[in-house]
Amino acid sequence: MKSNFYHSKLITFLIIPSLLIVTSIFVFLKLPSSSPTNENNDCHQTNLPYQNSKLTIDERVTDVMSRMTDAEKIGQMVLIEKNSINNINDISKYNLGALLSGGGAGPKTDTPLAWLQMINNFQDAAKDTCLGIPLLYGIDSVHGHGNVLGATIFPHAIGLGASQDPDLVKRVAKATADEMAATGIYWNFAPNLDVVRDIRWGKTYETFGSNTDNVAQLGVAYLEGTQDSSSGYFNVLANPKHFIGGGNMIYGTSRNKDFQIEEGNITIDEKTLREVHLPPFQKAITAGARVIMVGTASWQDTKNSDNYHLLTEILKNEMKFSGFVVSDWYGVYLIENNKYNSLVRAVNAGIDMIMTPFDYKDFVSNMQKAVANEDITKERIDDAVKRILTVKFETGLFDRPEALAEGLSVIGSEEHREIAREAVRKSQVLLKNKNSVLPLSKTLKKIIVAGGSADNLGRQAGGWTTEWQGIDGNAGIVGTTILEAIKNTVSKDSEIDYNKEGNFANTNNLADVGIAIVGEKPYAEGWGDIANPILSPEDLLVIEKVQAKSKKIVVIIVSGRPLDIKDYAKNWDGIIASWLPGSEGQGVVDVLFGDFDFTGKLPVDWEL
Ligand code: GLC
Repeated sequence: MKSNFYHSKLITFLIIPSLLIVTSIFVFLKLPSSSPTNENNDCHQTNLPYQNSKLTIDERVTDVMSRMTDAEKIGQMVLIEKNSINNINDISKYNLGALLSGGGAGPKTDTPLAWLQMINNFQDAAKDTCLGIPLLYGIDSVHGHGNVLGATIFPHAIGLGASQDPDLVKRVAKATADEMAATGIYWNFAPNLDVVRDIRWGKTYETFGSNTDNVAQLGVAYLEGTQDSSSGYFNVLANPKHFIGGGNMIYGTSRNKDFQIEEGNITIDEKTLREVHLPPFQKAITAGARVIMVGTASWQDTKNSDNYHLLTEILKNEMKFSGFVVSDWYGVYLIENNKYNSLVRAVNAGIDMIMTPFDYKDFVSNMQKAVANEDITKERIDDAVKRILTVKFETGLFDRPEALAEGLSVIGSEEHREIAREAVRKSQVLLKNKNSVLPLSKTLKKIIVAGGSADNLGRQAGGWTTEWQGIDGNAGIVGTTILEAIKNTVSKDSEIDYNKEGNFANTNNLADVGIAIVGEKPYAEGWGDIANPILSPEDLLVIEKVQAKSKKIVVIIVSGRPLDIKDYAKNWDGIIASWLPGSEGQGVVDVLFGDFDFTGKLPVDWEL
C-alpha cells in the first residue's frame, strides 16, 4: 500500500509539473515542430516571410511550405471548374488552390464587372484559408477573352498561323492578357502548340497549323505577349498545350463515342514525335513557359496523363521544365475506372495539378489515402506543391492588388480592336483570283451579298466565344460583321443588295459582283470532329443563286479549317480563306477592296 501511496505522490508532485514546464517551454518558444501544424496562432497572420515580396521566391515558397499541412498541400494540387463548387466556403474547407471557367462558365450576368466581382469573391473565399494562399484562376481565352461580353474577339489561332507574323501574335496575346487581367484572371489555357496532322479534328482552328517551325515561332510570341509585364511578375500566365502529339491522333480512335479524333490515339514513333511535336514545347520552355497542360490523348495506347517517360523523363528531366504540369479536363480519370488508382498513376507519372474538374471531395480523400498508404510519397507531393506555389508567386498572386472596376475599360478598347482588325487582314488567304477580280473596286455600281456567314458574328468568331461551342448569330458578341464592313466601305453610289439565302429579284441587269460568304457553324473540340469537311448543300445553293445574278463571283469561306471545294472552285472567280476572323469583320473588307494587300499564307494544306 505504502509504495502505491508514495508512487502516486511522486507522480502528483514531480512528474506532472515537470511535463507541464517542458510543454510550456515548447509552446512559449514555438520551437519549430517537425510536422507543420496549423494551430490558430498560425492562421491568418500577417508579416510572415512568405508574405514579404522583398524575399526571393524560393525563400517565400520554403517558408509557406514549412507551415502547410498535408491537407493544405493536397488542396494546391487540384483544379476545379467553378460551377462544381457547391458552397463557396468549401474553398477554405478543402484548401482549394485553383479554379477554372470551362467554356462559357461565367457569372449569371455576362458583363465585365460581374466577371470581376465573381473572381474577387472566389479570391476572398481563398483568403479564409489558414495561410490565405490565393487561387490561380484559369480560362480558355484562346482568341481574346471570348467568354466575356464586349471583349475583343481576335482571329482564332489558325488565322494567326496564316499571318506568320510573330510581332502581331505577340500584340494579340498582350491585348488578350490585358483584358483578362482587368477581370482578375491571370491564367490563360493558351497557346495551343499542337501541330495538326488531320484537319478533320475539331481543334484544328485552335492551332497555328501544321508547320512545326511556324507553330513554335508563333507559340513563343504568344507566350511572351501573354506573360509580358513590367511589374516584376507575369501579366498573365501562359499555358502551352496539349503535351504531346495533339493533332496527330488517328481518326476513329477516340475513346469517346461522340468523337472521332479528340481523345484519340497517337501511333507515330518517338523519333517522329520528337521531330514534329516536341520543338514548340522546347522553345516555349526556353522562352519561359511555367505551366504545361497534358492532353487527353494516348500515345501508343498509353494515356499521356499516365506516361512517366513523357512527363517526367522527357518533359521535366530532359527538357528541364521546372514549372508545373496540369492535366486536361477529366483526363486523369480516363486512365482507368478506379479514381484512386488513376490519381496515383497520374501523380507518379509527373502530373502536379489535376483538372478533375468536378469533385474535389473525393480528390482530397483519395489523395490523403494515397499519402497515408505511401502510394504517393510526401516527396512527390512536396515537389508538385513547390512547383505550383513557385508559379503562383511568379504570377504575382500574393502581391498584386485586387483588380478594380476602373480597369475594365480596356475590354473591347479601340486600340485592341485595331490590333484585331490588323490580325484579320493579315490572316486572309487569297486562294483564287481569276482575271484579277480582286481587289474589288469601291465604286462598283451593284454588289449582291449572300450567305449564312455574311451577317453573323457568331460564325465569324467560332467556338470558345460567349459559349463553349460558340453561338450562331449576333447576340453576345460586340463587333462588325463582314456585311456591315462592306456597307461601311463602298462608295455612297454603290448599291449593296443583301439576302442571306441568295434570293434576289429577277432583273436583267446582273450585279457587277456577287459575294457569297459561307462556311462552318461554330463548334469546339471533339464536337467538330468530322469525316469530310465540306461546304453544306445550303451554302452551295446560295453560291449558285448568287452566281446566276452576278457577272463575277467571289466566295469568302469562314471556317476553322480547309473545306473540300475541289468540285466547285473552278467555277468561281475569287476565293478567300477567311478562317475565323472574330469580331472585327472590317479586316476582311480591308483586303477585299484593296486597302491592304493579301499577305496570308496557308497554315495547313488546302487542295483546290
Ligand atoms: C478542354 C480542352 C483544353 C481546355 C480545357 C479547359 O477540354 O481540351 O484545351 O484548356 O479543357 O477548358
